[in-house]
Amino acid sequence: MLRELVAAAGERSFLALSGGLPPPEAFPVEALRAAAARVLDAGALQYAPTEGDPALLALIGAPNALVTTGSQQALDLLAKVLLDPGDVAVVESPAYVGALRALAAYEPRFVGVPVDADGMDTARLEALLVGGLRPKLCYVVANFSNPSGATLAFERRVHLAALSERYGFVVIEDDPYAALRFSGDDVPTIASCGGNVVYLGSYSKVIAPGLRVGYAIAPEWLARPLAIAKQATDLTSSSVDQRLVAELVRDTMWFDAHVARLCELYAKRAAALVGSLDDRLAASMPAGGMFVWASITVPGIDAQALTAACMAQDVAIVPGMEFAVDGGFEREVRLSFSQLRVDDLAEAGRRIGSAFDVLG
Ligand SMILES: Cc1ncc(COP(=O)(O)O)c(C=O)c1O
Repeated sequence: MLRELVAAAGERSFLALSGGLPPPEAFPVEALRAAAARVLDAGALQYAPTEGDPALLALIGAPNALVTTGSQQALDLLAKVLLDPGDVAVVESPAYVGALRALAAYEPRFVGVPVDADGMDTARLEALLVGGLRPKLCYVVANFSNPSGATLAFERRVHLAALSERYGFVVIEDDPYAALRFSGDDVPTIASCGGNVVYLGSYSKVIAPGLRVGYAIAPEWLARPLAIAKQATDLTSSSVDQRLVAELVRDTMWFDAHVARLCELYAKRAAALVGSLDDRLAASMPAGGMFVWASITVPGIDAQALTAACMAQDVAIVPGMEFAVDGGFEREVRLSFSQLRVDDLAEAGRRIGSAFDVLG
């Protein structure tokens, strides 16, 4: 049996469209080795200040920045500081599962606001606010969202910032994919539009997630409570990791070229995946990031059935229901193009076609 399985694996590899991870070929291993040789001294092995390594903070270049152990830690700290059980947390619908998990630990009541091609529908949010909803926070991934792939339109950013001011809630602008834009122009951050906004940055997708370095830029009144919460949690993020990141980011010529290479890599992969799908799975080409949100167009086939049929074809996809706050997304799936090479993405698309054939 084992021999047959190994032989089968040799014939046909398993293709994962499921995780939004950078592939090994995206990691700047040589640059990190060279940086490690330069930064690994006694100073790098000491505790860093809770707010972050001064060299990295200078490169982030914003007042009230707090370096965090990935942006995931910032989500936990923000929830810890802002939420009491039963408080309302507004999230995108569909939402990033990691944020739902981080916030859920503090027992909020989630309210999902629908996302369309221009990101969260802020008019819908305003209607809820006018109707009496009083959230403590509103979580959005403004660029190339996980899972929808959508980017929040500029007018909606301005609107959301104004609503946060008028109704007294905090916008959490989680922005790990901003640099991975492969078409169109950058849109100003929500934080730059005023209001009560905490901006979360991360080096996970542009350097490596194993380094666990992100940051939060908070309004003045929130910066100190966040730093105190972090001190209680882990005193400081890894000094070594922070210095490695600072060493790479400081070399702006190298860093810009590295990010440009990543954008080129992901643009090709996104095009290969979208191009490999037939009209049974409707998807549009994203402008950046790692995700395609696709809708099943064949009557009678739902995402659960398609996911199982894809598994039988050795392809992993994620059914839309995984990202639901209050039901829905039975006919959507999330596909990530980040991990597979172009020819494997084309093969994954063919296998999804076979999965549809089997389902009839
Ligand atoms: C939207 C979003 N936010 C945050 C994270 C976590 O990032 P980090 O590695 O910085 O903790 C991810 C990781 O996939 C993500 O997709």
